[in-house]
Amino acid sequence: MPPSLLVCDGCCCGRMEKGNNAVPIEYLKDAWKEHGLQEHLSLSISGCLGPCSLNNVTLMMNGNERIWLGKLGTAEHYEALVEWAKSVSNNQEVSDLPELLVSHQFKPK
Ligand code: FES
Repeated sequence: MPPSLLVCDGCCCGRMEKGNNAVPIEYLKDAWKEHGLQEHLSLSISGCLGPCSLNNVTLMMNGNERIWLGKLGTAEHYEALVEWAKSVSNNQEVSDLPELLVSHQFKPK
């Protein structure tokens, strides 16, 4: 099974009416299409993943490995996510996080 990236767009993540940042779903879907990423890293837009207070949340699942990212809010964060996805797709393994996203990694309780 290729790794998969779950981007939360649930009850809190992406809910601008709650004061949270929008999740650029179309941008992500377009990027996956444009760069042919789906075969090596599947993208899913998910419901609530649990740690709502860290919105916006994204989870990379690779076998038993889990990489949680939180507090994504800017276009640069999502561009970095696409760059990371391209590198995972090219190398066919989960590569190191882009610098911009390192401080966004968290371990859920
Ligand atoms: S809505 Fe995204 S973690 Fe709950």
